[in-house]
Amino acid sequence: MLCVLVACFAVQTGLVYSDDVDLQLSQQAIEGRRLFHEKACQVCHQLWGQGGFLGPDLTNSASRVDETRLASLLTVGSGQMPALHFDSKQIAAMRAFLEELDRAEVGRGELRLGDPDGTTSPQAAFEAAVLAASAPSNAVAGFEVLRSGVCSACHFPFQVSIVGAPDLSTVVARLDESALHEVLTSGRPEQGMPPPVPALSQAQRQQVIEYFRWLNSDRDALRSETARRQSGRRLDWSRLPWWEYR
Ligand code: HEC
Ligand code: HEC
Repeated sequence: MLCVLVACFAVQTGLVYSDDVDLQLSQQAIEGRRLFHEKACQVCHQLWGQGGFLGPDLTNSASRVDETRLASLLTVGSGQMPALHFDSKQIAAMRAFLEELDRAEVGRGELRLGDPDGTTSPQAAFEAAVLAASAPSNAVAGFEVLRSGVCSACHFPFQVSIVGAPDLSTVVARLDESALHEVLTSGRPEQGMPPPVPALSQAQRQQVIEYFRWLNSDRDALRSETARRQSGRRLDWSRLPWWEYR
């Protein structure tokens, strides 16, 4: 019995520490990291997929969020993010921390699923399948709109995710055009669907809807192409420890 327990401990230790990243932070970034812990950002945000699930993963947020927006989020907050009243020194420290995390060699802020090189996750396989298919240009534009947002943190390809985000390849069968515009404008915050940030223009919503239509009509082909690109790397999403994210 004791040997088994010791063996379990050794295996677990190996699993936990084997993918450590040796990250050298500057003094300013270390101050940012201290604030990150002090203000409990991780209650709502993830780093490398670990943390709360109300806000987006921040591992690669520096390249999406410009200085003005970061400053505004950290002072007055937003509809969903509390006003934290950071002063300019604290903002600069947080900026340094987020920038130093956002480097190719440090990894992508996605749920860690098998090979971290980014080409084999279910999402990456799906995106590659979409790009390889010859979709009408409007649909491609809609796809790019989604890809530049945080939608894929909650919506998984071809299945309902554990946080209850539906499969978007079948959404046109459930919602008509005006209902789609509505959810793409205001989200459904009570049900866990945040309003898209930044807001989508009327033209972008139209492109997203075109994309949903195309996705629905080509669903079977895309689904098998996604599976093919991922073959040998199947991962059961439902076995992830989701309680960490909720
Ligand atoms: C109570 C939950 C909550 C806390 C605590 C919180 N945030 Fe947020 N944050 C959100 C939500 C929700 C969003 C996305 C919606 C929005 O922008 O209004 C967000 C958005 C952001 C974004 C923009 C991300 C992007 O990709 O657009 C950044 C950067 C950010 N938060 C940083 C922080 C930092 C740093 C802290 C800690 C000092 C923090 N947040 C604390 C909920 C939170
Ligand atoms: C924080 C997680 C989260 C994020 C991020 C998110 N969604 Fe959702 N989304 C949900 C959930 C949960 C629902 C289901 C809400 C409900 O039960 O009514 C939903 C519902 C939807 C629906 C309606 C689906 C249906 O069948 O009724 C659409 C369309 C949608 N989301 C699109 C998007 C788009 C586009 C983005 C990116 C801009 C996005 N979502 C980002 C969680 C999320």
